[in-house]
Amino acid sequence: MVSARAAVALFLLLCAASTSHAQGSLNLVCSVQAEWCQAIATGFQRESGIRVAMVMRGSGEALAAIRAEAANPRTDLWFGGTGDPHLNAAEDGLTQPNESANNAALHPWALAQWRQSGQRAIGVYAGAIGFGFNTEVLARRNLAPPACWEDLATPRWRGEVQLANPASSGTAYVVIATLVQLRGEDAAFDFLKRLHANVNAYPRSGTGPIKAVARGETGVSVSFVHDAVTEKNAGFPVAWATPCEGTGYEIGSMSIIRGARNAAQARRFYDWALTAPAQRLGFDAGGQLQTPSNRSAPLPPGAPDLNAIRLIDYDFARYGRSAERRRLIERWEREVGALPR
Ligand code: G6P
Repeated sequence: MVSARAAVALFLLLCAASTSHAQGSLNLVCSVQAEWCQAIATGFQRESGIRVAMVMRGSGEALAAIRAEAANPRTDLWFGGTGDPHLNAAEDGLTQPNESANNAALHPWALAQWRQSGQRAIGVYAGAIGFGFNTEVLARRNLAPPACWEDLATPRWRGEVQLANPASSGTAYVVIATLVQLRGEDAAFDFLKRLHANVNAYPRSGTGPIKAVARGETGVSVSFVHDAVTEKNAGFPVAWATPCEGTGYEIGSMSIIRGARNAAQARRFYDWALTAPAQRLGFDAGGQLQTPSNRSAPLPPGAPDLNAIRLIDYDFARYGRSAERRRLIERWEREVGALPR
């Protein structure tokens, strides 16, 4: 005989199971830092009852994985990472148009990304490229902080520079596209070759170089400046600067995958991720300091102010094109990455 109490418990259990079944699940690929990825997965799951399965990949790696599974997508939504690969995905029909009621709350640059992509990618945050450096390492080696792009290619920085690998990292691709826009393509590659002599490693992930700076393994990195502030706030002797010639920036984006099996759940996540409270999670959970795309989400305390940085008019239409990104990365691999150091 089943007691009344056991029957009630069983009933409640069945209700809970059927609720979570009814809410369904969401497969997320996440291209921001681990703490933020975990915070959005648990935060959304708690709020919606939708079970979230999340994997983390750099922007270039996420695009490659989404492309590889295009015929039979396992991913429903791609959160974060630099904007160019999201534009590639849109152009190549790997993602689908979506319009959120929360678009009305966003900054114009976030909506520019949405229009540019045929409504397939939306801006979630923005950040600028610059230099991160370890003040103790520089003092020990008697090096003045770099102020301009050109400084980094001088022999005094020999073996002291890190930049991520542009094939896997969206951050590094923004750096290359920025230099091409500032100098013209051949002059940019000439600079990248001279810089190569000073580079001690090209880590896979965009944040690899600034983490190496924080640990004192290298003097300087080319990184998003918000990532440098995150390391400084974590207690490391890190400071940052933006190049005197001007610098490029990202519109960190979000896209729903075409043919997503859990499209309704993906749309629900998309709406949620554009709200001001959801856009605080990166700062609250992991000290992330990008500029949020929701106009009501405050700039996190200590975050770099993009209005105070000399930004180029980054040509997202051109450098977000699939063939252009592929061509520049291949040229970098052939003419720069393959050179001895
Ligand atoms: C970090 C930054 C993000 C950026 C991302 C790109 O997480 O904080 O602003 O979008 O890197 O990562 P990736 O590994 O593709 O360069």
